[in-house]
Amino acid sequence: MNNKIRVLVVDDEPKICHLIEELLKLEGYQVDVSFSGMDALQMLKRDDYQMMLTDLKMPGIDGLELIKKAKVESPEIRAIMVTGYATVDTAVQSLRHGVDDYITKPFNIFELKKAVKQTLHTRQVAMENAQLLKDLKKANRELNINKNGLTEKMQMTGDQLTMAQKELVQRVSELATVNEISKAITSVLDMGALLSLCLKEINEKLKVKHSSIMFVDEEGEGLVVKACHGDRSKQAMGKTQKIDEGVAGRVVTGKKPILVKDIRRDNRFNRSERPDYKTKSFVSAPLIVEGRVLGVINVIDKVSGESFCETDVNLLCTIAGQVSIAVENARLYETLEENCFNMVTALAKSLEAKDKYTSGHSQRVSEYSSVMARTMGVSDKDMKTLRHAALLHDIGKIGISEFIINKTDKLDDTEFAAIKSHPCQGEQIIKPLAFLDDAIHHIRGHHESFDGKGYPDRLGRSDLPLLTKIMTVADAFDAMTSDRTYRSSMKTNKAISELRRVAGKQFDPEVVDAFASSEIVKMKSDLESNY
Ligand SMILES: [Fe+2]
Ligand SMILES: [Fe+2]
Repeated sequence: MNNKIRVLVVDDEPKICHLIEELLKLEGYQVDVSFSGMDALQMLKRDDYQMMLTDLKMPGIDGLELIKKAKVESPEIRAIMVTGYATVDTAVQSLRHGVDDYITKPFNIFELKKAVKQTLHTRQVAMENAQLLKDLKKANRELNINKNGLTEKMQMTGDQLTMAQKELVQRVSELATVNEISKAITSVLDMGALLSLCLKEINEKLKVKHSSIMFVDEEGEGLVVKACHGDRSKQAMGKTQKIDEGVAGRVVTGKKPILVKDIRRDNRFNRSERPDYKTKSFVSAPLIVEGRVLGVINVIDKVSGESFCETDVNLLCTIAGQVSIAVENARLYETLEENCFNMVTALAKSLEAKDKYTSGHSQRVSEYSSVMARTMGVSDKDMKTLRHAALLHDIGKIGISEFIINKTDKLDDTEFAAIKSHPCQGEQIIKPLAFLDDAIHHIRGHHESFDGKGYPDRLGRSDLPLLTKIMTVADAFDAMTSDRTYRSSMKTNKAISELRRVAGKQFDPEVVDAFASSEIVKMKSDLESNY
């Protein structure tokens, strides 16, 4: 049987079709081509394809319409748009029609290969996820049947009745614990927040002193502590070990839980090697998805001082099943979010291609902003928001004519108004993307001024969030130190003096100080003085 992934390439330019066909065949895919949307539709009805790459503008059915119809025909198909017409409208339309990635012509072959590979991976994870949810529903149904069976047992008499009652109470309480944890974690998609919440719930519900989650690393050779909760969590965080070492390693390789009732009497555990080891009793259970071990979950020492028993192992394994699904969901979401972000940044880069003077500007604004934010103690979550906002801050310029952007003469009032509209246009472009919600107001505010004389909302001082104030300094510094159509670049020291001169007026003095004393500024000025 032929197990190759089937890909359909649709473009009214046969040359491009055959070029993509050859590239993908070299990657091991089974590729068919079609030069029109109508023919492609027939082929999609006839055969099963896992992936489609299509041109946007074609006679008859265009690329968007084709993708829409293809997704009705086979909902699991993934689609990449390859187009020479990258506009804001097509990008937004593409997102709405369920396009999974977006590549602009002329494309680079590595970019194309990467997009195909990544999109197919996302499809695979989504399908596995759907299967897992199905399995979970089935398991829940079986659990309910068991519960009913136990209720029947209660009709018995004497000792049997007492036993069955105890068993029922135990099972119902376990079920309630699993359900409560499951309810709390299923809607959390941020990996860090998810792991912390899982462990907080486990410590509370299972009444344990300490718990941790370890993930198998990308190479599959080690285990790393990704989250801990309770006593000793600070020391444990980030610790690594080889996959074939220790109890956690045995849990991964054996795909089975391990219970250590009393560490002092367990000869699988050599305490003499670790005289500082304070643990008395623990359970380690594997996190498994579709037979693949993602890592392990450990619970250590009960608050009551009792040892763990087989019932605790069963309960932890059931919880581990739920945690595995939530982790896989969060990973899927991270991949989707990354794909979506890459698509938008590709658009932002196509904007920079319009104007050679702004090439790399967004990337540099992002780097300078990160430097300031780190010095000023910004949280990890805000660092991510800042990176998104900085990379996309000028995306609104995509809607402004190239003539105005590249004009060297003085701009007239209408042209100036068009340029000034880019923060608001950027906001409109980003609005449909929910995962960029936190970045939106910094994009809108990146031309505000500390003294309230900026645009579009004339916000100043405490009305301006710190992240926005950081971006305004980074944006101005890069503008000053880069060549522009109307002047050549300024040296670092001069640009810093200029920032200091307008600190308190245009910029927040604390932010300017943080930037001026940063390592990157020192390095840049040292480099300039040596050459
Ligand atoms: Fe701007
Ligand atoms: Fe900018």
